[in-house]
Amino acid sequence: MPDWLYSDTVKDHFTNPRNVLMDEEPSFPANARGQTGNIKCGDQMLMLLDIKDDIITDVRWKTYGCASAIASTSMLSEIIKGMHIKDAYTIKPEDLVEKLGGLPEYKIHCSVLGDKALRSAIDDYLAKTGRSGLFKEPSTEICHCLGITDKDVENAFKNGARDWEALQQATKMGTVCGECKDKAMNLLHGFAHIYGQPAGRV
Ligand code: FES
Repeated sequence: MPDWLYSDTVKDHFTNPRNVLMDEEPSFPANARGQTGNIKCGDQMLMLLDIKDDIITDVRWKTYGCASAIASTSMLSEIIKGMHIKDAYTIKPEDLVEKLGGLPEYKIHCSVLGDKALRSAIDDYLAKTGRSGLFKEPSTEICHCLGITDKDVENAFKNGARDWEALQQATKMGTVCGECKDKAMNLLHGFAHIYGQPAGRV
């Protein structure tokens, strides 16, 4: 039997995920809803938040993702309770991976759905409270299937992505129709010029 690749924290959150939306819990008092991912590539995430005075008081989520997606979203759901929406908006997948005690390199991309669904839910809440786009940095969508932007590509570059494979591992982009590849690689090469570091093979 091969060694288990995941940390004890990942195992704990995978086998006992917190704050999962149960089918028999339709009465959860959500005033914010976020959804991300694409069912065609097997991962989709729904996040519901109960927010009072800009503080997240409760959360439920549901995903069709893998063990890493489940564990990272379970961890996310724990840390955002009691958090101001402005702070929650800045949580990044790297923060979750660190709290989980790491993930195998090829599973890092599975941790990107939760924070995206979270930001989508907060955007929904801001729109409902007359503050549309308050925390949004101007960005351009590069991967329309998964809602991945130039900011996500820049962030992946800063975290070491230098080729298409690494970019996909970091963001999941291109895993549905693949049409975003050329645009994404042009961007990656652009960042290599801006930051003075070489991009790798296409
Ligand atoms: S545009 Fe379809 S996978 Fe990126």
